Amino acid sequence: MIRSILPIIIIGEKKIDKTRKNTIIRVNKMRRELVTQGAEGRVYNAEWLGGSVIIKQRFPKQYRHPDLDAHITRERMKAEARALTRCRICGIKTPVVFDVDFEKNEIILENIPQSMTVRNYIYEAAKNNILMDSELMLDLAEKIGQVLAKLHSNHIIHGDLTTSNMLLVPPYESSDIILIDFGLSSIDERAEDKAVDLYVLERAILSTHPNTEPFVAQALSVYELSGGKVAKDVIKRLDEVKLRGRKKLCFG
Ligand SMILES: Nc1ncnc2c1ncn2[C@@H]1O[C@H](COP(=O)(O)OP(=O)(O)OP(=O)(O)O)[C@@H](O)[C@H]1O
Ligand SMILES: [Mg+2]
Repeated sequence: MIRSILPIIIIGEKKIDKTRKNTIIRVNKMRRELVTQGAEGRVYNAEWLGGSVIIKQRFPKQYRHPDLDAHITRERMKAEARALTRCRICGIKTPVVFDVDFEKNEIILENIPQSMTVRNYIYEAAKNNILMDSELMLDLAEKIGQVLAKLHSNHIIHGDLTTSNMLLVPPYESSDIILIDFGLSSIDERAEDKAVDLYVLERAILSTHPNTEPFVAQALSVYELSGGKVAKDVIKRLDEVKLRGRKKLCFG
């Protein structure tokens, strides 16, 4: 959209006049600031077409065969862009996808300004002696339950649900949940995949944040109540997934 109304686009260090009336002018390299470096890639904050964006760059894994690595990277980028856009169509808040560049293995996303991860929000709350079963925290759990019910009713499986992959914007107490990091996502109607999604989240919350049993219970009960028949089946399935998880832990 933005491209079509602007005659000039910036690619790396070149400025190109799309009207081709002027010759190519070299400009400074695009400014980038590293936000995080994970095992799979880097996240940068940058300026792009005059606005603030997030660039998610995936780098090659040395232990994988290059062809397989290129295939996996491409599939994850496609999955991410697809799910982010699908969420927006379904009314779930996610960053806008501006561009997908398979040559540089980068996705350019809307930067959610002043955002804070739910993980850091919970840490801050704990520092301020706010209990996990307080109204404020249970409200947050309720919002998580609601957004996940909506996600799953649209058959979107996130694949890596953690409190780091949920953002809040100011005023944080009344913020909607903004979902990010869909590189492992898929589209699936089965209760099994949705239950595994919830199981991953439950484990992530309980292992990252102390005393969160009531918080998790609230998120799951709101999920079940607001997600209709689909959600009821998923919660039923979740018990089986948990049982399997425990057996795996016990017997390897
Ligand atoms: N659109 C965005 N706006 C603001 N901040 C963002 C945005 N996307 C990511 N971030 C910040 O960068 C962090 C890492 O992003 P993300 O979770 O997408 O990458 P990752 O965990 O490294 O990815 P992956 O699991 O695919 O390797 C987030 O926790 C958040 O703090
Ligand atoms: Mg992440």
